[in-house]
Amino acid sequence: MRTNLVVANWKMHGHKKEVTQLLNALKNGINTSATKDSKMVICPPSLFLGQVQKELAETGIAIGTQNAHPQNEGAFTGEVGFAMLREFSCSYAIIGHSERREIFAETDKFIAEKFAAAQVQSVIPILCIGETQAQRESGLTESTVLGQLQAVISEVGIEAFANAVIAYEPIWAIGTGLTASPEQAQEVHAAIRSFLAKLDQNIAENISILYGGSVKANNAEALFYQSDIDGALVGGASLDAEEFLTIYAAA
Ligand code: 13P
Repeated sequence: MRTNLVVANWKMHGHKKEVTQLLNALKNGINTSATKDSKMVICPPSLFLGQVQKELAETGIAIGTQNAHPQNEGAFTGEVGFAMLREFSCSYAIIGHSERREIFAETDKFIAEKFAAAQVQSVIPILCIGETQAQRESGLTESTVLGQLQAVISEVGIEAFANAVIAYEPIWAIGTGLTASPEQAQEVHAAIRSFLAKLDQNIAENISILYGGSVKANNAEALFYQSDIDGALVGGASLDAEEFLTIYAAA
């Protein structure tokens, strides 16, 4: 059974008071929401995990991390490991986000190491893949996205995807207000699923594939209507409780 997931990636935003206000609004909103079949996941900056853990206790809203180091401990100044994150009730991890690939030069190999390390600690990886505008314009969308996926499969094996989530995030749609049309997104999601089906039919049918890139209250429903889109990874709109709850309700 595929789970519908609506994941908030707060990126590097928030301060203590704002975090409490946002979480209170989400807790109130989720209680009155008719949608109980979808799961909400909040990925705050790591610094706020203690606060978020306390404030989301017993709410059913899950917590995720935006990043982690593959080692559990050691001389890695500035990093946190998955074992530490487990202590803060993190059950999901965004892995391979395009901002980490581009700004922090993360390679496919390092991303695969994080993917495997997350699973060792029972943290579900949300593997992000996506093409640039130039790649799309050159007809390289599928080969780019499937190449990023294959790079991780080669390291961890297809079986590891029995307990993972994929997020298709076209880079040109992130933070730009340009969303992939529902048809454009569906085409790539279907390509991802049929690529996986060649390796393992069961995994392909059951894995949740999220769309990310300028998902807003006014476009979420049309995206979720597509048969291979199982939720969203939301940046900017996840910082506004009303917007985010509307997206969640659409799932
Ligand atoms: P936006 O929703 O702000 O475009 O960000 C998408 C994203 O990068 C989520 O991980």
